[in-house]
This record gives sequence, C-alpha cells and structure tokens, in this order.
Amino acid sequence: MKQTTRRLITSALPYVNNIPHLGNLLQVLSADVFARFCRSRGYETLYVCGTDEYGTATETRAAKEGVSPKALCDHYHAIHEEIYKWFNISFDYFGRTSTPQQTEIVQRIFKEVDAAGYITEKESSQLYCPKCQRFLADRFVEGTCPHCGSKDARGDQCDACQTLLEPTELIDPRCGVCGSTPVVKNTRHLYIDLPKALPMLQTWMEKTSVDGFWAKNAVQVTKSWIRDGLKERCITRDLKWGIPVPKPGYEDKVFYVWFDAPIGYISISKCAKPEEWSSWWHDNEKTRLFQFIGKDNIPFHTVIFPATQLASGENWTMLHHMSSTEYLNYEGGKFSKSHGIGIFGNDVESTGIPADVWRFWMFYNRPEHGDVDFTWKDFQEKVNGELVGNLSNLVNRALTFISRFFDGTLGDGPSDSDLMKQIREREAEITDLLERAEERDALHAIFELSDLGNKVFQETEPWKLRNTDPDRTKTVLRTLVNLIRDLGIMVTPYMPSTSEKLLSMLGLSGQNWDNLGTEAGNVKLGEVSYLFTKLDNAFVDALKVRFSGSQEERAATESASVASDKKNSDKKVNTVNNENTEEKSVAERFAEKVVLKVSKIVEVNKHPEGDFLYILKLDTGEEEPRTIVSSIVAYYKPEELLNKNIVLVSNLKPANFRGVKSYGMLLAASDPNAPEHTTCEVLFADDLAVGTTLCPEGLSNPEGKMFYVKPDHFFAMPLYTKDGVLSVDGKALVSANGQKVTAKKYINGEVG
Ligand code: 2FM
Ligand code: ZN
Repeated sequence: MKQTTRRLITSALPYVNNIPHLGNLLQVLSADVFARFCRSRGYETLYVCGTDEYGTATETRAAKEGVSPKALCDHYHAIHEEIYKWFNISFDYFGRTSTPQQTEIVQRIFKEVDAAGYITEKESSQLYCPKCQRFLADRFVEGTCPHCGSKDARGDQCDACQTLLEPTELIDPRCGVCGSTPVVKNTRHLYIDLPKALPMLQTWMEKTSVDGFWAKNAVQVTKSWIRDGLKERCITRDLKWGIPVPKPGYEDKVFYVWFDAPIGYISISKCAKPEEWSSWWHDNEKTRLFQFIGKDNIPFHTVIFPATQLASGENWTMLHHMSSTEYLNYEGGKFSKSHGIGIFGNDVESTGIPADVWRFWMFYNRPEHGDVDFTWKDFQEKVNGELVGNLSNLVNRALTFISRFFDGTLGDGPSDSDLMKQIREREAEITDLLERAEERDALHAIFELSDLGNKVFQETEPWKLRNTDPDRTKTVLRTLVNLIRDLGIMVTPYMPSTSEKLLSMLGLSGQNWDNLGTEAGNVKLGEVSYLFTKLDNAFVDALKVRFSGSQEERAATESASVASDKKNSDKKVNTVNNENTEEKSVAERFAEKVVLKVSKIVEVNKHPEGDFLYILKLDTGEEEPRTIVSSIVAYYKPEELLNKNIVLVSNLKPANFRGVKSYGMLLAASDPNAPEHTTCEVLFADDLAVGTTLCPEGLSNPEGKMFYVKPDHFFAMPLYTKDGVLSVDGKALVSANGQKVTAKKYINGEVG
C-alpha cells in the first residue's frame, strides 16, 4: 500500500579510520532493518550513511603513516564499504563527508547561523602540546574525569559517566599523541550560542515529543542536558583536515567535526539525489526523519544539530524519531581494536557464519533497554534454539510434510479462520512495533508466531490426522503455509537472504508487507531445504579461543584459516597489486610483510591449559627451533603431525597463548564445498625443503622471500585449494623456483 508520508533514514556516520566492530555495526544494521521494513510497507524511503572523515584522528593518523589524509580516507572508506556490503546493508547511498557538497552546505549553514546572530567569538585558553607543537583537539587530550574520577576520560567526553567535558577540565591532562603534559595557550574560536537557541529548541521539542518518538535514553539525556543549562559550544578547531571557516580572521581554522558531521547526512543526501535532496530535507509535513545512533551520540543529534538547523532559519526537516541504543559489549568487556578484543567487521566473514545469522543475533539482542553482552555461549544458544530449533524447524517439518504426502500442493480450499485471526492480530502488533523501530521486540514477536506454528503442527499431528480427516489436515496445513509465508515476509528486514530462500521454497516472489494475513492461495512448493545449521560445541569453542586475545594472538591460533565460499576468491581484499601509482604508494605504506616458510614439526605436545591447543616445536631452517601454539587438536592426532613439513607464517609478533608464547602460525585450508567448519587440512609441504619461502604468485618481492600485506589482511584473505594446489586469494603459493604446495585430503573436525 502506498503510504502518504516518506521516511528519511540515517545511521550515525562511522569514523572513517576505525574498523567497525559488532557494536558499531549495530547502527547501520538497525537503520537497514527499518529501511527494508519501510520499503516493504510502501513508504518512499531514503537511507543514507557514510564515513565521517574530518578531524584530528584522521590528520594525526595520516601524518603517522606518511600519507595524505585524503589517501588515508580513501583506503578506509573502501574497507567500510566492503564490510557493509558483506552484511547486506541496503543503503540508498553510502557516501563520505570529505566532498565539495559537504563544504558547500556546511559553509552555507554556518553563514546563515552567523548572520542570524547565533555565533559568538571568544578568546580562550587551549591545551597546546609543546612537544608536538600543536593545539590539541579535545579528544586527543587524556586525563582523569573531574566528575567520576575515571582515568580514561578524553578532553571531549568521559565514556565512563557520559559527561561532555572541556579539555581544560581534565585532571592531570596528557597529550594523547605523545603523552607529554600540555600547556595552556590563548587562541580565538567561534561558538554556537545554544543558550540563545534554547527557546526555539524547546518549542520544537514540545512538538516533536508529541508527534515523534524518542528512545527513553534520548529523552533522559536531552532533558538532563537542558536541565544542567546549555552552554555555548566551540565549533572551530586548529587543524588542516577539515572544512575551512568562511569568516575573516579564521582562515587558518576548520570546523569541529561534530559541527560538520550531522550536516553530512544532508550533503550525502545531495550526493545521492542531486535534484531531489532539498525536497527531502526541507519538508516537515510529509517527510519523517528517523535517526539511528548509539547513546554516546545523543546530545549531538537531539540538541546541537537541531539547534544549528533552527538557527540557520531554513525550514529543515527535523529529527522525528530517535532510535538510540545502549552499548553492546563483548564477553563482559568493551570491544577494543587496540587490544584486539571482540569481533570486528573484517573478521566476521572469516568465521564462515552467514551474515543473516549475525544479523539475527544482533536484533534478537539489540540493546534497546540496557547494555547487552555478546557471549559465544549466548550466540550458540540463540542460533540453535530460535533460528534452528524454532523457525528452521517449522519451515522444514511443515513443508517437507506437504511435499511428501501432498506432492507439494494443497489445492484450493479454506484455512483455519480462528487461527488466521490470531495470526493477524499478532502481525498487526509486529507492524506497530516496527513502525516505532522497536526492532528487538518485533523480532521476538515474530519468533513467538513461529513457535505458535510449531505448536499447531505438533498438536494437530498431521501424520495421523491425514488418515482419518484429510480435509481438516489440509485446512491446518494451508494455515501453516500462510503463516510460513508471513514469517518469510516479516523476516525480510532482518534476514534478507533467508527470506528470499524461504519464499522461494513456497514458489513465491515479490511479496511485501501488504500480503501479510492474506490467503497465500494454491502454492506449489519448490525444493525444500534447511534454512540454518546448528553451531556445534567444538566449532564455537574454537571461535571463542580464536577471538579471545589480541589480534596477534588471534593470528597465531588461527591455524585453520577458513575459506567459506567461492565468491571470496573474486574479491579484492588488498591493494598490493594495484597499478594505480597513488594507491600503490598508499598500499605500500600501510603494508607490512608476510613471510611464509616451510618448517618441519619436530615435537607435538598438548597444551596443559587449552583443550584445543597443541604446542608444536618446529625446525624452520634457522639456528634455534621455534615454538608455536596451534588450535588443531580437533583435527589431528600428534602422530599425524610429527615430522611433517608445514607452511609457517614466520614473522608474526610473538603471542602469549594461555601462558605459552607462540612465534608464528601454521597454514591450513578448508574445503569450500563442505558443510561449514567440518573440514580443516593442515597444509603439508613434504615435497619442499625446510626453510623454503613461499609467496602468492606475482606478489612476491624480487627474491621471492616475502610479500607486502598487513598480516591482518592476509588472514582475511581466502585460503583454499584449487585442483589440489594451495592458493591465497586466488593466487597459487609458489617458491622462488616455482614449486607449489599441494593439499591432499580433508579431515572431519570432531573432537575425539
Ligand atoms: O561517534 C561517531 O562514530 C561519530 N563519527 C558519529 C557521527 S554521527 C553524525 F552526526 F554524523
Ligand atoms: Zn604531544
């Protein structure tokens, strides 16, 4: 049904030079579910997002890597795109903030706000690092929070108590770049006059709180911000990588990223729709703005951005619905890239677990009412219990039954009207929940409906009833087909690939929200197959070990580098062999090298603290033997490893593994056509001499001794055997004199 209002949807623009972890991914995913729901429901929808590129973090990082900020952003923007593509995010446009459109709109809005008298100038004292010879951006000052005493507060905000800070408020400040103690120096900056904007902000808020819908945390944080008294907020910085301030006397300054970032939503819409963007962004009648963010971004979206919009005097489309989640943590702690804790966008794919399964878990546990912890145990329980035990089970048992006993079609006839009424009522509730973007509750209700289907099947006992009352049997089964079709439609936003698979088993396509609760009619079933497979203990335990330590530790244990599907082989994973000279130099700067060396296993011991771990002693051709720790207990007996030659990634940082240091990792492949994670083959290189170095064909340095790639990227590259020959990212591994490594067999990965 065509709806009369439109949906303008945004998810928080991720900082470009962070690889997003599951917690960050929550926002793009949440907005994706909502966008898919809206499209299915018949709303004209525009979902935009993009990388947030300006600011100190990028500038400093680029300086460190010796590349331009632009080149750094290009590099990371591509990584973000890859990750979101893998997760099946249906952006209408994924842009970036470093565009001419952004500069134009930010400067225009600033000039309007300034002309309307909402910009003030102030001389202030700012922290300056004498060693780095620069003013320090707020988030690059670290120190103790004056409110809660947390030692890890940043100059802009304390994550522990959520208070926004001024850097000079920090106790014992340190330079976030070099650690030395900053000094206070005078400088002039521009401020947005929030106290002056408060009356119009309040008028707007009263209206939007009636029409719109804000998550509880958004209401609370905003109220307390206003209650504590709005302050003028500085919107300029002493940086180069940013949007120049178009005002005399401020030529050497740029806008603070938090002034420009939310305007990114507007400029990205302009990139997406050069003609129509303005009608999306200047319309509070028909267009509803839905924003998906994490709770740390609330005041920027509920106070600063709306105040900027209002002060500009333009009739901007304003925030309608604020969907701000709580935090997602990892196994009882925070995600941390630097400590390598948690699951990051670029390693999810290598688990071999399909995107829809991750998406399911994220929404089934979406932190809507409080912080949520990702644990592998819970992941396994929910996947096995709900996805496999509930939804997949219902679909499989009901459809298999119809295929077997009714040749895949039930013919025209009635369904059970009482049951249909019950189903429709539940579906109306689910629709209401999704209209308010209560995605977690809606998904739970969907699984409750699936559970109802299982109960009906169980209680009807069609396997008996078909002999005594075939008509009634068909009536019940028709109702279940309607229900399964509806489940297929309702999981579309959450699990798009699964939905497609499910509906195609029913021989249906082009279904949308309007079809819910209708008679599916005389469908003819296609081939019925399982939607999901169970995650078994050995597999989950191995993943838990793999994702428990630092990235280096992880690499060391990652003996089974999993290549799940063929499509990976077409994928451009690194930029090493790129002809483009500018890109090449960037890639080279980022690149670290990988050295692969044929080594002989001379000793095998079980790790006393790790059920899945062997401690292996290797002869690498160097003077001293080497120790590595490898998680292949599930796949090999000690005697199958002893005296064999393997391929060692020999230049990794030593990693501590349950008390034992590992000085590298061995390579293993898996069968891309076998069921997930049931195969692991250590690559034995018995034909090659100990000490031989190997490189992917065409990528080696001139001596064939190493190749340039970041170890992290190397581990994300698909490794598999093609006609028995080992290849990395589609390129055969060869020695300097052309020898290749061949693989022979696959071994079933059960522990025992
Ligand atoms: O916190 C962050 O990740 C910021 N890059 C969010 C920006 S949201 C928006 F306003 F663009
Ligand atoms: Zn410094």
